[in-house]
Order: sequence, then C-alpha cells, then structure tokens
Amino acid sequence: MNVVRLNEQDIDLSIIDQAAAIIKNGGIVAFPTETVYGLGADATSSKAIAKIFEIKGRPPDNPLIAHVHSLEQARAITKFMPQLAEKLAQSFWPGPLTLVLKKNAIVSDVATAGLETLAVRVPSNRIALQLIKRAAVPIVAPSANLSGLPSPTEAAHVAEDVGDMIDMIIDGGHTRYGIESTVVDVSTEMPVILRLGTIPQEDIEMVVGEVSISGMSDEAPKAPGMKYTHYSPAAKVILVKQPGIIKKTHDLYKDNKRAGRKVAIMSFTDYAANLNGLDQIALSSLNDPETYMRKLYATLRKLDKRADVILVIDVPEEASWMAVKDKLKKASNDIK
Ligand code: TXA
Ligand code: MG
Repeated sequence: MNVVRLNEQDIDLSIIDQAAAIIKNGGIVAFPTETVYGLGADATSSKAIAKIFEIKGRPPDNPLIAHVHSLEQARAITKFMPQLAEKLAQSFWPGPLTLVLKKNAIVSDVATAGLETLAVRVPSNRIALQLIKRAAVPIVAPSANLSGLPSPTEAAHVAEDVGDMIDMIIDGGHTRYGIESTVVDVSTEMPVILRLGTIPQEDIEMVVGEVSISGMSDEAPKAPGMKYTHYSPAAKVILVKQPGIIKKTHDLYKDNKRAGRKVAIMSFTDYAANLNGLDQIALSSLNDPETYMRKLYATLRKLDKRADVILVIDVPEEASWMAVKDKLKKASNDIK
C-alpha cells in the first residue's frame, strides 16, 4: 500500500506532483480535506470516475462533488453563478461548503449521474488545494470510505476500507472538522440545504437569509446520497434519548450484557461519573459540539471493533448540535 505522510504546514511538493501525475493518468488518490478524507479522480475522465464508484460500492445514481482550487475554476465548470451562490462562495470558500450549480460539459456525466447540476467546493486543506492546482484538472472526490460506513477522518480509516484498491493515500493527519461539508443547492431560486454538515444552517442564513432543509418535509430528499444507509458500523447503534437518559442507558447496557452481547457507550464527560464501570468513551462535554463532531466517526469505528451494540447518548437539542444529531440518527437508522 502506497501511504505517504505530508505535513499541511510544510508540504513536500514532489509528493504532490507524484499524486497529481497519478490523477492525470486516470488513477485514484485518497487525500485529506478539512472535513473528511476524499477519494480523488480526474473529474474529466469517465473511466477514472467509474473506478471510484466500483471501489466504494457506490450506487451509480449518487453523484460526486467536484473539488476546485478557486471560484474562477468553479465558474469554468458550471453554467453560471447566481448572485446568492457568489455570496456564499465569497463567505465560505475555501472551506466546508458545497454548492450545487448548473453544470456544463467539462465534468463527466458519470460523476453527476446524468443530472443537470454539479456539486462543487473549494476545500481549505492546503494539501487538497495543492493537489488540485498541480493536477490542473478538477478532482471529484467522495468520502474515502466504503459506501455505508462512517467517513474517514484519519488515513488509517482509508487504508482499512479501500487501501488495497487505490494508487496512493496521502496521510495528512486527523482532519480538522470531522464531518462532511454542508451541501446547499443554489441552482434554483431559493437556496436549500441538501445535506447538513460542518457549516451550521444559521451561518448560511446570516449570508443569504432564510434557507430550508430538504428532507424535513415529506418530499423525497434531493441529494441522491441521502436516501442510502450512512455512517453505519456493523454493530447495532442505539440512540438513547431523554427523559431519563442515564437510567435508560444503564438498563439497555444490562439487558444487552445479559443477552451475551458486548456493549459500549458513546457519551459526554458530564456523564462519565454516572456511567462509571461501564465501557464508555466520552467524546466531549455537552457544550462542545466541535470536539464531538471531530471525534464522531473515529469513535464509531473504534467502538465497532470491540462491541456488538453501541449505545449513543443523544446530543442536546440546540441548533449547534443539529448536524451531529442528523449523522447519529442515520447511523442508528432512527430517521424520524
Ligand atoms: O466534505 C465533503 O463533502 C467530502 C470531502 C471529501 O470533500 N465529500 C463528500 O462526498 O462527502 P460524498 O460523495 O460522500 O457526498 C456527496 C453528497 C452526496 O449526498 C450526494 O448525493 C450529494 O453530495 N450530491 C453530489 N452532487 C449532487 C448534485 N448534483 N445534486 C444534489 N446532490 C448532490
Ligand atoms: Mg460519503
């Protein structure tokens, strides 16, 4: 397996050029972004993109995000940039925001599953940016996990899932945010959040006014990816909710133990003492969603290795926890 370590603050450009050459020759390179690791291919090569779908076991109707290094390059691969899109791009790029725009013919239709729109983002991770610049093509990159598993936040997760099927893994350490980019559809008049992610709804609304979230009403979710199982480890994930969350957790723990299952808990530092003696990982305090978000996927992967049942103590109801709550609901198959 070809894993190379790079320091984002002091990037060895000869390694970036090796990775860029692989991409230009139709190969696949996993690289860090500020959200999660991506599985990158030349966005203009249908053949390379088809490999990504095959490696991930990804349904062909689930389109990919094109990663570019600038607003200008985003303009070059789309038909036009509405004013709201421009405002969002100015506010959040480079960074964890994906914009869905009308596409032109540059990016392969295989990447967009035949849709007339294209999801685009400018990542802020400097390794990702250098790779896109030196490859001199837009790079499509889904999260570098096998379809259905939690997204990778460390190079080791990528190696576990797809290491023997790809040409190179760039190890840039643990990713900064830990969950995916927020996907906003700006191809129609009213912007719509298609996937909750790193940038909270209220930050987006501060720039463009009120936005709705797809899937919150009865309509079918618009980001094709949202209808598939997500972030689900092999273990059974149970979301334990208020009221009486500590007692419920103790009871579920005992019942599952009695049934001969290995149980572990995803919890908060605030509850550590209440759950003393049980197998638990406290990800953060109840008022630190950023830290929780950063550790979420790695913790699911870690606990999956040692437990048959993962009890997840539900997160607070506040807006700042909304994206994490969404991921936990999906991991536990508890979708309303
Ligand atoms: O943070 C991220 O966005 C990461 C890093 C690697 O950039 N990428 C990522 O890609 O999460 P992926 O493929 O795992 O998720 C892309 C999501 C899917 O839910 C997909 O359905 C949606 O974006 N999407 C892509 N193109 C779309 C389009 N044209 N219209 C609507 N949704 C789209
Ligand atoms: Mg994904």
